Amino acid sequence: MSGSVPGPARNWTVGTAPGIFPFLGHGIDLVRRPLAFLESLPTHGDLVEIRLGPQRAWMACHPDLVHQVIADPETFDKGGPLYDRLRILLGDGVGTCRHQDHRRQRRLLQPGFRKARVADQVQLMGEEVESVCRAWRGGQAVDISATMMDLSTRVISRVLFSDSLDAATAVEMRRCLATVVRGMFVRTVMPVDALFRVPTPANRRYRHASDRLRAIVDAAVAERRRGAARDDRDDLLGTLLAAARGDGVESAITDREVHGQVITLMFAGAESTALCLSSALDLVARHPEEERRLHSEVDAVLASGRPPGPDELPRLVRTRCVLTETLRHRPPGWLFTRVATKETELAGHRLPPGATVVFSPYLLHHDPALFPGPDRFLPDRWLPGQAVAVRPGAMIPFGAGRRKCIGETLAMSEAMVAVAFITRHWRLRHLPGYEERLRPAASLGPRELVMTCEPRASRPVGTPPAAASSAPRTAVAPVVRNSRTAGGNDVHDA
Ligand code: HEM
Repeated sequence: MSGSVPGPARNWTVGTAPGIFPFLGHGIDLVRRPLAFLESLPTHGDLVEIRLGPQRAWMACHPDLVHQVIADPETFDKGGPLYDRLRILLGDGVGTCRHQDHRRQRRLLQPGFRKARVADQVQLMGEEVESVCRAWRGGQAVDISATMMDLSTRVISRVLFSDSLDAATAVEMRRCLATVVRGMFVRTVMPVDALFRVPTPANRRYRHASDRLRAIVDAAVAERRRGAARDDRDDLLGTLLAAARGDGVESAITDREVHGQVITLMFAGAESTALCLSSALDLVARHPEEERRLHSEVDAVLASGRPPGPDELPRLVRTRCVLTETLRHRPPGWLFTRVATKETELAGHRLPPGATVVFSPYLLHHDPALFPGPDRFLPDRWLPGQAVAVRPGAMIPFGAGRRKCIGETLAMSEAMVAVAFITRHWRLRHLPGYEERLRPAASLGPRELVMTCEPRASRPVGTPPAAASSAPRTAVAPVVRNSRTAGGNDVHDA
């Protein structure tokens, strides 16, 4: 049923999504055909009632409503099924904490994410991307999803702890994160605790993966504390440990908070960036003309064959457009919840305190009124001077307002370094018969993307020999497993 409710600025429409199942609500639709279900919602109104299990929730479909929700974190606080679940895993870190504690937490972490700081980290990003590509050989099939996850885990662990996790731990972390983001999604769209207390294999796997993630982070923090007396490293964990000692902050933070922040940053930093990278490489390979343009840019800017440094990033204009369009087309963070802290109005509709509000960057990014031809991959939309005038709240891959992603600059720099370096040296091709199966979990992107890597033949005249260490061999190499990933399945037979 849809009805028209007069709002202050326009006549809002408020409706209810059809097909509510007893007890499961729209949970089955959201698990089986999440994107199609999502895209069907605006036909029922600007604000649409859906059911997450037995719970009522309100999906903000219109960009102005999404903007209203995001811009007012006091009224629409972090909460609802997604954040209630995340809190169990992450504690009350900066991503999950309530509004009243958010400012303090954000101020504590912000210095580690400043632009100047990220510029210093570009070099380590380059080292890591060279390292993950080193095992690639012409003609081999590479598990791109796993490799990108490996890359982003290594980068975030160096930003946090100054050290890479060892190979076996990085592989375990990747597997645990995959289990958790899938399980988290099912628990978000069907928030019926009793279902998840049953000791089924899937529930046991979820529990085990969450426990292991916490244990990995605890071990990394404990290891650092042991060496703390002789080691005062200038990284994010160093900042947190200093705050735990009470150095330079108004009040010391607890050990629990240190762990909460570290696991939050690992969790938020690794998955989304990896999915953005896999999606970008996937989409570029599907669009030969875009690939050609990208190749010509990276050949010109990275003539030396080395990864880009901070001075080269601004010249990678097309690379940035490709990534921005990837984030529009397939935002890794595609569904978020909030909870109303008091009685309020949205689209002229009264919401009681405790009401769950849902918004989706994916839905807005695919609205034809905001982005003409929304299903087409068109990096040119973002060329300087041609960029569409984006309505407030319409392009929100990193969220907006006070709860906007703290890692945006870090993630974009990492993605640019990785995409530029990889496409400078390799042309990636889908395996014959590959069909896209995007199964959204708590995040969206290809999770089983395997591609064949072909060395790019053309190398600009005058490439110095130094580039050879990072450049691929052109002969078809025998298929090997990637030893760096300790028996992981990163490299397969083509
Ligand atoms: C392409 C990669 C990334 C995407 C698409 C992304 C997306 C997002 C989005 C949409 C939000 C807002 C969520 C909401 O409003 O409920 C967010 C918040 C957050 N992100 Fe990211 N993110 C990415 C990378 C990173 C990285 C690399 C880090 C850290 C190392 C990070 C840390 C965080 C944190 C801590 C928050 C919570 C901020 C707050 O509440 O103050 N993210 N991210």
